[in-house]
Amino acid sequence: MDKKYVAEPYRIKMVEPLFETTKEERIKLLKSAGYNPFALRSHDVYVDLLTDSGTGAMSQQQWSMMMLGDEAYAGSSSFYRLEKVVKEITGYQYFIPAHQGRGAEKVLLPQLVTKENMYYISNTHFDTTRAHVELAGARALDCVIDECFDLDKYHDFKGNMDLVKLEHLINEKGKENIAGIIMTVTNNSAGGQPVSMENIRKTSEICQKYQLKLIIDGARFSENSYFIKTREKGYQNKTIKEIALEMFGYADVFLMSAKKDALVNMGGIIAIKNDRELFLKAQTMVVPYEGFPSYGGLSGRDMEALAVGLKEGMEEDYLKHRLDQVRYLGEKLKAAGVPIQYPVGGHAVFVECKSFCPHIPFYQFPALAVTNELYLEAGVRAVEIGSLLLGRDPDTKENLESKMEFMRLTIPRRVYTYNHLDVVALGVINVYEKRKELKGYTFLEEAPILRHFTSTFKPVE
Ligand code: F0G
Repeated sequence: MDKKYVAEPYRIKMVEPLFETTKEERIKLLKSAGYNPFALRSHDVYVDLLTDSGTGAMSQQQWSMMMLGDEAYAGSSSFYRLEKVVKEITGYQYFIPAHQGRGAEKVLLPQLVTKENMYYISNTHFDTTRAHVELAGARALDCVIDECFDLDKYHDFKGNMDLVKLEHLINEKGKENIAGIIMTVTNNSAGGQPVSMENIRKTSEICQKYQLKLIIDGARFSENSYFIKTREKGYQNKTIKEIALEMFGYADVFLMSAKKDALVNMGGIIAIKNDRELFLKAQTMVVPYEGFPSYGGLSGRDMEALAVGLKEGMEEDYLKHRLDQVRYLGEKLKAAGVPIQYPVGGHAVFVECKSFCPHIPFYQFPALAVTNELYLEAGVRAVEIGSLLLGRDPDTKENLESKMEFMRLTIPRRVYTYNHLDVVALGVINVYEKRKELKGYTFLEEAPILRHFTSTFKPVE
């Protein structure tokens, strides 16, 4: 169709009402939430951009397949339908479901930590991945390219692994001390930035050279594949399915939070290429942690929705629209001078709050200050991805300083329209106008792990 006649590639069959609040109400609501947006009730949020995780809208095909859910404890036919799709997409031999991404991490990551003082190296660990690496007694090292930190500089694949640094780290720590290499696609914590196929292939070559396992943390593998298709030479005429298959071919393990690109509200995937021993270990551990290996914490109907969602998430019309929404919001903000990670990534616009609020030091969480002000201004909920999320050094317990202080405006899949995004843009721009008045935060109560979820705060006077 002619480009000017293209809108959302779906029409709305069921609606969910949104409720407005006044600024006076929001001031009270935020205070009683301990100035932590995670503690707000969704009823009190107008446009909720906290996360794209489990917040997408399912299709009529997904809802209808849920009626066929086979709730057998063992050997459910829904499991076999899902397994077939996972094997087809990845080309891998083994599949184990998990209730969500972190369930998959908890089952698999400790299996490669075979002794003390080991490391996982990633382009960037997501926070739950980092937590599971540390809970398994290992340490998490991040190794993304420097261009990622140059926010205004255009680079097609800012999520890439720094290959020179990767090899250097392997040699410095000793290859026998590396539990595995984790490639996060897209690179969530670095701004939802994509990773190129060339970078994945070269990382795989390094893994083979040192006999290390390459794990794809592929919560957003379809979005990453779409970026490869549109930005990397030689992929324009390939389908998303072909691109994804090539990518999985370079790795040994695929972990997925299915709550993102697989368009379900709950679900996770562990897929293993051909290492039977690793599969058996993971299968043993999934039973006490997640459930019997033919359901892994999911009901039969969840597995049906996931089997359909995995495929729908790879449809090009959908991906084109999805990434256009994110680009649209990003460009509106950039045009108004708001500092953002540019170009925008796949699932969110990351507003850079270090330069937004240079007067707020990292230990008073500038991105939390901007996030809270956005809620007060427009009822929009975003999330801090910066020093608050990064947490403390597990050894010294010092507050770590994040290289970037982001407010993430995360766009749920198939949920909001361009009009909602206009509201968000206006809210952010108005907060930007009064950025000099914003104040930082200190802890009222700090949670010991994954502190950003449950800690409470008070504004610094
Ligand atoms: N890996 C990546 C890259 C993620 O983005 C997430 C979750 C996980 C693993 C963990 O998966 O939530 O299903 O347990 N990211 C969400 C977010 C929470 O908001 O970015 P999960």
